[in-house]
Amino acid sequence: MQRNDPCWCGSGKKYKKCHLASDKQRLGGSKEPATQLDRMERSSEYIEGMRESCRLAADTLKMVGENIRADITTDTINTWVHEYTLDHGAIPATLNYKGYPKSTCTSLNSVICHGIPDDTIVKDGDIINVDITCNLNGYFGDTSKTFLVGECSPDAKKITAVAEECLKRGIQAATPNGKMGDIGAAIQAYAHSMGCSVVEKFVGHGIGKQFHENPQVPHFGRRGTGVRLTPGMFFTIEPMINLGDKDLYILEDNWTAVTIDGKLSAQFEHTIFLTESGVEVLT
Ligand code: MF3
Ligand code: CO
Ligand code: CO
Repeated sequence: MQRNDPCWCGSGKKYKKCHLASDKQRLGGSKEPATQLDRMERSSEYIEGMRESCRLAADTLKMVGENIRADITTDTINTWVHEYTLDHGAIPATLNYKGYPKSTCTSLNSVICHGIPDDTIVKDGDIINVDITCNLNGYFGDTSKTFLVGECSPDAKKITAVAEECLKRGIQAATPNGKMGDIGAAIQAYAHSMGCSVVEKFVGHGIGKQFHENPQVPHFGRRGTGVRLTPGMFFTIEPMINLGDKDLYILEDNWTAVTIDGKLSAQFEHTIFLTESGVEVLT
């Protein structure tokens, strides 16, 4: 990661303006980005803290799924998430995160990620990703899914199903003592086999007592490459899959990422814990 590259956390800012300082601090001045490799011995307190936060994030997403429908605004979804999170003793982690103004992300149709809730009305036939991140007792949980609203087009159903299967295959490819590239390779192979593309500008991430930690989790790549997957790691897998081109642009609000060709995009995300015996999906 070079100083002028877009930061690995997905803020859209340059690395030097974003996580460079905190990465350096964690590493005692070393230039290598921090990984979780130096703290793989997880206390049961830490693991339980992550399980609880992730369970709340999952419950919040379930609550959204039970209520989402046509003719509400994305701001209404934000209110549901905000109040549910506070009611359960947690803080919405996106609120004021690097200037992000809301308690969830709502990404409609050609929006890839980081859509900001506002007075936009969700319509019959839309697809919408709702991304929940909470901070419960200092531990972060992060999960998202794309909802089909009402009667959707074959294309909408296809991209949503492909993105969901990509997450499933990514999780299956995450094995203790495997490599990070195994995950991206599995996702990419499936997406391409379905004629879809994989967004490369945003990646999954380590997570724990910070929202975005290293390592990065690319949703593309080659088997057998990248950092070793070590028991004790917590990270997200969150493939963003496009019906057309993988490229994107960011709107004037400095957050909303949109497909360059205006075609549909879908995303699913889980936070996982890597154990000696395999993967525990925490969300
Ligand atoms: N929840 C997103 C992720 O999966 C990050 C959102 S950051 C925000 O990593 F600031 F845009 F909310
Ligand atoms: Co995430
Ligand atoms: Co998320």
